[in-house]
Amino acid sequence: MSEIKRLATYVQKGGVGKTTSSAHFAVSAAQDHDLDVVLIDLAGTQNDLATHFGLEDEVEDLDAAISAVFGDKWDFIRENIDNVVDRMVFETGEGPDLIPADPGLSGANNNLANVPLDERFQALDDFVSKDLAPRYDLVVMDLPGNENNIVLNGLFAAQHTLAPLSPGQFELNQLKNLEEDLIEITETHDDVNPELTMVVPTTINRGEPEHLAFADEVEDTYPEIVGPRIQKTADIGREQGNGRTVFALEDDELLKTGVRARDAYRELTDDLLPQLEAR
Ligand SMILES: Nc1ncnc2c1ncn2[C@@H]1O[C@H](COP(=O)(O)OP(=O)(O)O)[C@@H](O)[C@H]1O
Ligand SMILES: [Mg+2]
Repeated sequence: MSEIKRLATYVQKGGVGKTTSSAHFAVSAAQDHDLDVVLIDLAGTQNDLATHFGLEDEVEDLDAAISAVFGDKWDFIRENIDNVVDRMVFETGEGPDLIPADPGLSGANNNLANVPLDERFQALDDFVSKDLAPRYDLVVMDLPGNENNIVLNGLFAAQHTLAPLSPGQFELNQLKNLEEDLIEITETHDDVNPELTMVVPTTINRGEPEHLAFADEVEDTYPEIVGPRIQKTADIGREQGNGRTVFALEDDELLKTGVRARDAYRELTDDLLPQLEAR
């Protein structure tokens, strides 16, 4: 059996940097660590990751879609449709491949409610083990900021989670809830045991005392698993608009803040990769 490293980016909140962190971690893992990486966008139908890599037009009319792996016909489809997995995949141009979200995900989420509990959260894990592990070294799953059957599939398949947090989105006293959310998921679903592997303060503006206090608080709350501070930079949003990450630019094309954010994502990747055992 081939093995693959797995990570999900997850916090039960939107706008904290999950999608941005998924993309930058995946690119650094591919470019700096020479890994074959695939990103899966499970975060819904707005197709954030496709836009992030300038693929929004290409993914408009999907030939094969990720939502199919959650259905009971997947084994049949895998056996009978030529290259169905390869047809799901798009090249980002920065190293990683991307399996984009598709509008069928919300129906797939509803249908999973009818699947017996002992199988409900296992479809994605099965897909990762059977279909992705032979092709890739690392899978990064970008999850939405809520808790549904697709999220639980992602957490079950990944086991390891990265939680980005940005100031403003989080009351400081909510920080400890992060682990409690995961523990609650573990207690409610016997077979889903996600681990909070790394917490990372993102969009930190060094000129704002409140941001620095927030980053200090994250570091004090999670001293063992905190990652490097990711600087707030106009480069990230602008380049998302241009369909690329800040890894696609030279130093002299980036602001100082952009260079720092890129280097912090590189450091995050160096720290996180060895913690993801391939399985
Ligand atoms: N380091 C950063 N500096 C500036 N803006 C950022 C940074 N990281 C993320 N953003 C912006 O914050 C917003 C939310 O980020 P996103 O990754 O989409 O969060 P989520 O996936 O958790 O909803 C986006 O508009 C993104 O461009
Ligand atoms: Mg997102």
